[in-house]
Amino acid sequence: MHELAGRTALVTGGGSGIGARIAALLATQGARVAVADLDATAAERIATGLPGPAGTHLGIRADVAAEDDVVAMVQALHEADMRPDLLINNAATCSDLAYEELPLTTWRRDLDVSLTGAFLTTRHLSADLRRSGGSVVNIASVNAVRSFGNEAYSAAKAGLVSLTQGLAVRWASSRVRVNAVLPGTIRTPIWDERLSRDPDVLVRAARMYPLGRIGEPEDVAQAVAFLVSDRAAWITGVALPVDGGLLAVGSTAFASDIEEIR
Ligand SMILES: NC(=O)c1ccc[n+]([C@@H]2O[C@H](COP(=O)([O-])OP(=O)(O)OC[C@H]3O[C@@H](n4cnc5c(N)ncnc54)[C@H](O)[C@@H]3O)[C@@H](O)[C@H]2O)c1
Repeated sequence: MHELAGRTALVTGGGSGIGARIAALLATQGARVAVADLDATAAERIATGLPGPAGTHLGIRADVAAEDDVVAMVQALHEADMRPDLLINNAATCSDLAYEELPLTTWRRDLDVSLTGAFLTTRHLSADLRRSGGSVVNIASVNAVRSFGNEAYSAAKAGLVSLTQGLAVRWASSRVRVNAVLPGTIRTPIWDERLSRDPDVLVRAARMYPLGRIGEPEDVAQAVAFLVSDRAAWITGVALPVDGGLLAVGSTAFASDIEEIR
């Protein structure tokens, strides 16, 4: 199925994990894809591996938290004759410090990447998106709507849901749809540092999920591919959990407690 033929997508943080899988699925469905990442080598490697004739896709180094980088990224896209009508704001950082020990610089970095990065990218692509009646998907988190720790990251993700709703209404008359997905725990390299200290963390996390497992990047990519497609033509401003039922659990039970109430 090539339902995204003729579309051009930008995936930020596309050099790893969920973003890399989204880039692959959108390319499989016919889109030209630009993969932007802080890690230039990763962006290039993922873009080069996407299906399609050589030169179809583009890997770009960009720190989405830095306005100069975002401006240069948009310029590089235009020079490559890419005017994105699909934007996936996926880049994020998640500090793992206790709130009481969280330095201001770390708080600011989580907000700068995960929230301001989406603002900057969306802002500097607004002409392209609005000209083409495009579609934006912001990768938020279940942390946007419930307390699961990581307060800086969670506040950034809550802000991203608010930005999603604001832009959905603001740009509806330009036929730009703006949605968010709220992933639960997904097996990606973002967990590597935590796994090195706590090897069982994802096994314990799986017990929190009514569907009995944590998610895979494919679970999120499929939701994104649906939301950007014409099948979702009348869906805008939503925050879609992709979370194995986690947010549907109707109690304050957490972690292994959930097994006791099933
Ligand atoms: N993995 C999970 O459990 C989980 C759960 C909920 C939400 N999410 C969200 O999914 C998205 C992807 O996460 P992931 O698990 O694939 O992480 P990941 O660490 O595998 O990938 C994130 C990518 O973003 C890039 N990046 C970081 N800072 C950047 C910056 N300033 N500019 C550009 N690129 C930058 C990294 O280099 C990396 O390639 C994030 O928004 C994350 O918050 C992940």
